[in-house]
Amino acid sequence: MGQPQRLENKIAVITGAAAGIGLAMARRFAGEGAHVYLADIDGAGAEREAEALKAIGLMATARAVDVSKGQDVTALFRSIDQDQGRIDILVNNAGLNVREDFRHLSDADWVKIREVNLDGVVRIARDGFNLLKASGKGSLINVASIMGHRGLRQLAGYSATKGAVSALSRALAVEYAPYGIRVNALAPGFVETALTERVLRNPMINKALIDQTPMRRFGTGEDIAAAALFFASDDSAFVTGAELAVDGGMSAGL
Ligand SMILES: NC(=O)c1ccc[n+]([C@@H]2O[C@H](COP(=O)([O-])OP(=O)(O)OC[C@H]3O[C@@H](n4cnc5c(N)ncnc54)[C@H](O)[C@@H]3O)[C@@H](O)[C@H]2O)c1
Repeated sequence: MGQPQRLENKIAVITGAAAGIGLAMARRFAGEGAHVYLADIDGAGAEREAEALKAIGLMATARAVDVSKGQDVTALFRSIDQDQGRIDILVNNAGLNVREDFRHLSDADWVKIREVNLDGVVRIARDGFNLLKASGKGSLINVASIMGHRGLRQLAGYSATKGAVSALSRALAVEYAPYGIRVNALAPGFVETALTERVLRNPMINKALIDQTPMRRFGTGEDIAAAALFFASDDSAFVTGAELAVDGGMSAGL
């Protein structure tokens, strides 16, 4: 017999699951026995990845969802309510960035960052409450960032939204605990995905970031998914309000 599966019979919903960190989480959670809903603004990408998981015998369903649109989020939760009646694991992972010196950040770009990274997280965490409560032991996982606690040029707007996600996670841990819902945050360092591709392609920035990372490498989606699995599973049954840096030691250094 193989290893026991850590997410057997769990219903998991992951936003931004068509690519990058969210997709790595979807693959890991499905591999651990969860039925994973891949919710992404890229509906075709979510469908492709869900089909790939089903093709190897895992449970996955795609949903086209723009987390910045209230009606999309309402439709997502309504359909899952009809299908499953509960959510055991809800991951707020969808996020984006617009790199710009803060003094030149336009209102439109600021709104674009905030609508997904913060308003989307607020909406998912608020409107997902009833389904998480119905689980009896729901786990809400918010993907923040070490940039919520540190500064780097051209990332101030992004940092502001991620710092708010960290604060929201702690506050919700307190508010949701009486309903059997745990709320934890992940703070990845630099992970090689489409989000960081351009900046990591710059040899000087790449070297500077590696030099600042005690473990001397960038993270992978699998590194973040492994940490998410801890928060998702019953192994963290007494952990709420925590934030885990998954950054190769970057935030521990000077
Ligand atoms: N890559 C890193 O170094 C890093 C570091 C810290 C935190 N993070 C955070 O991790 C999360 C995932 O980032 P990633 O690096 O995998 O990015 P990515 O760009 O590779 O993937 C993001 C996914 O989110 C989806 N998405 C974007 N806007 C959306 C919306 N409005 N509604 C639904 N889905 C949407 C995209 O289609 C894509 O599939 C983000 O919250 C990001 O801020 C990433």
